[in-house]
Amino acid sequence: MSAAAHAARMDAIYAGQRHIYDATRKYYLLGRDRLIADLAPPPGGAVVEVGCGTGRNLILAARRWPQARCFGFDISDAMLATARAKVAGRAIRLDRGDATTWEPRALFGIDAADVVFMSYTLSMIPDWRAAIGVACDALAPGGALHIVDFGQQERLPAVFARALFAWLARFDVTPRAGLPAFLNEIAAARGLGLVFTPLYRGYAWRAVLRRPA
Ligand SMILES: C[S@@+](CC[C@H](N)C(=O)[O-])C[C@H]1O[C@@H](n2cnc3c(N)ncnc32)[C@H](O)[C@@H]1O
Repeated sequence: MSAAAHAARMDAIYAGQRHIYDATRKYYLLGRDRLIADLAPPPGGAVVEVGCGTGRNLILAARRWPQARCFGFDISDAMLATARAKVAGRAIRLDRGDATTWEPRALFGIDAADVVFMSYTLSMIPDWRAAIGVACDALAPGGALHIVDFGQQERLPAVFARALFAWLARFDVTPRAGLPAFLNEIAAARGLGLVFTPLYRGYAWRAVLRRPA
């Protein structure tokens, strides 16, 4: 799928959903607040959310880490319209960008990011492996990429997993079964530290890739 077709698909999904997104997703996008609490950027450090959606996470991150500089981007103009309205008056910079091609200098005028995070975004990006590679490219020395997304429900009943995956497919969401293997591969290839943690019996997966200082 071309980037333009993917962006149009995201806009079609979120044109209506964005109005109920924050109220509904808080019940099933689990692990987001734990990720935000873990970000720990250095003072003055740059934090970038890839696929920032409504801006919900960035607002909480800016509140939790007030000395950080917060940036976010999304491929969906519809989602960005909601995010822009929500972050108005806050020191959070937003732009439109594609997770598989963005660069920190071109998008935000910064050399690199101290923290990049991807929250329930990889499961919607067709070339999610490229998105992880590009996020790693954006990291400053010592910087970290934080990920939370759907797991494979590996320690939950199979009937629950089947029902959840069928429902998620209606929103173009595909939990990435290959995520742990790819994270191991890219960590080894690039000399990155990796911590991988299943949450809630595999409902969600949490990972941190860290570039050496
Ligand atoms: C399920 S929402 C998650 C939003 C937010 N991160 C959260 O945790 O609430 C997925 C978001 O990823 C965005 N997205 C999907 N593909 C993208 C891409 N290639 N580049 C940037 N954003 C993308 C969608 O437009 C949507 O806003």
